[in-house]
Amino acid sequence: MKSLIDILDLTTEELDELIATAEDIIANPSKYAEACRGKKLASLFFEPSTRTRMSFEAAMYELGGNVISVTGAGTSSAAKGESVADTAKTVSCYTDIIAIRHPKEGAAYVTAKNATIPVINAGDGGHCHPTQTLADLLTIWREKGRFTNLTIGVCGDLKFGRTVHSLINAMSRYEGNRFVLISPEELKVPSYVKKDVLQQKGIPYVQTTDLMAVMPELDILYMTRVQRERFFNEEDYLRLKDSYILTVDKLKTAKSDLAILHPLPRVNEISVAVDDDPRACYFKQVLNGKYMRMALILKLLKEAGQIK
Ligand code: NCD
Repeated sequence: MKSLIDILDLTTEELDELIATAEDIIANPSKYAEACRGKKLASLFFEPSTRTRMSFEAAMYELGGNVISVTGAGTSSAAKGESVADTAKTVSCYTDIIAIRHPKEGAAYVTAKNATIPVINAGDGGHCHPTQTLADLLTIWREKGRFTNLTIGVCGDLKFGRTVHSLINAMSRYEGNRFVLISPEELKVPSYVKKDVLQQKGIPYVQTTDLMAVMPELDILYMTRVQRERFFNEEDYLRLKDSYILTVDKLKTAKSDLAILHPLPRVNEISVAVDDDPRACYFKQVLNGKYMRMALILKLLKEAGQIK
């Protein structure tokens, strides 16, 4: 049973296919309006979410399917001590595909091991978030027209930011890309990402604390929120939370075709005035996420023999 736990579960050819399907959905939405008629998505969110949960649910509805959901660990049998494995077996009896977000790294993997239906990782702790990367990739594709020869700046909480880890994995598979990793010392990219991805693949990267010094080089600037919920103490969070605030003024030295991305939610790291800059792509990214999740649900349900 094919599931999506890590972005690398998809080959680059499969990513191209998902992008082609998403583009076709954008162009011809009515063609897909009945594609998942009679099928059910289980939306299991054991951590807060606005975009990811709602976009999965909107995606399934726009494919003509239905959704049943758990929101918040407190309202399901997880609160009684049920294991993720037992939940997976149970949910497989009621639905056709699962999207799960969970605070523990590896929870989506355990779900997929125990479910009899496809599982989609909607974020597992500070580990990874492959469907956010699908949203990011469609945005990069639509803005830049390529996945190669890009200087990609990633800024903010690179330690706990799971979207960053998945994006680095995804973009490291294409030729000629270079990463500029911008963070406070304490929030650098984990060494496993550096060693197993960047160094192993020979991808050029630099680490810096200085956003302004690197701004003119960037083709993409991927801003992120400092992940308060993963900190061990509030003092560290308060000290680091405003390390980077992107303003209109700071963009003066940026390329005219820079693409500014952010997985959202934004707290303080992009000034609201930047939203009016044509280089701001983060709300387009939200919409792109829905189309890519539609394409993904179609692909996984087709492969599972659930739809034609
Ligand atoms: C991200 C997440 O949950 O990791 N949000 C999202 O899904 N778009 C980023 C974040 O919470 O900062």
